[in-house]
Amino acid sequence: MPDDLPALDVLLPLGVPRLQPLPGEPELIALFGDSPGVRANMVSTVDGSAVGANGLSGSINNPADWRVFRVLRALADVVLVGAGTVRAEGYTALSVVDDLRAARAALGRADDLELAVVSTTGDLPAALLDGERPPIVITVAHNPALWGLRKRIGRDRVLVTADEHRVDPRAAVRALAARGLRHVLAEGGPSLLARLIEADVVDEVCLTWSPQLVGGPAGRILSQPSWYSPVRDVQPLHLLHADGVLLGRWRVARLGA
Ligand SMILES: NC(=O)c1ccc[n+]([C@@H]2O[C@H](COP(=O)([O-])OP(=O)(O)OC[C@H]3O[C@@H](n4cnc5c(N)ncnc54)[C@H](OP(=O)(O)O)[C@@H]3O)[C@@H](O)[C@H]2O)c1
Repeated sequence: MPDDLPALDVLLPLGVPRLQPLPGEPELIALFGDSPGVRANMVSTVDGSAVGANGLSGSINNPADWRVFRVLRALADVVLVGAGTVRAEGYTALSVVDDLRAARAALGRADDLELAVVSTTGDLPAALLDGERPPIVITVAHNPALWGLRKRIGRDRVLVTADEHRVDPRAAVRALAARGLRHVLAEGGPSLLARLIEADVVDEVCLTWSPQLVGGPAGRILSQPSWYSPVRDVQPLHLLHADGVLLGRWRVARLGA
């Protein structure tokens, strides 16, 4: 377990003692362990930017965010991301940190953490597609690269949802569940997350506020040209703090519930 992980104050709910970093993170696992179907995890600056000046979210991360991020991954069956994030952030096959493997196994999660990428084009880094553990690609029948993609990563790893031109988020989540991947961690980016929320498939949003003001032209954690109608209500579940970083966890009121 790295020794630079900070202790986390629990500001909400009230009365919970400070969470010291412990091997296997039993307290954080207990706090976040009731993992819902689809949990989103994002980071933002205080002025609402989803990226730093280099155009990546890595530059606005911090150790407190990393401490929770690694636990959320350990609790998931699959990380779901848009192709833009994979291309920008250079995603490769995922792994769970050694320290959290036992806790993951105890919750019945498989050893391997799957990566599922939503893309209409299949335009993904060769290092990812040709690696030892290629991702699941969720795409559309209209994708001109469909045949080549199936050949490259295996037919069973390419999921095609019914809509010819856009991946239907509901169908995507159903297709993952049909493979036994029910605990979904959506790591963005802002375009995909906006679609997932619009489609009413997100159960909760975890959001880290980095104590920075970056200005700049960057967008927010949802890239959504029109207002949601109705707007989606969220209810706070947790608020954690370390070194000026605030980490919120919010339940999304599902429209269909
Ligand atoms: N702050 C954070 O927590 C956070 C998290 C993640 C990413 N980011 C940042 O966000 C930026 C990327 O943003 P982005 O909005 O472009 O990322 P994105 O949502 O990851 O990617 C957009 C791409 O995903 C695919 N896609 C999304 N919805 C789709 C749908 N319904 N059907 C089919 N394909 C769909 C398309 O891929 P194709 O073009 O292949 O069709 C689309 O171009 C990066 O700079 C990254 O660093 C920030």
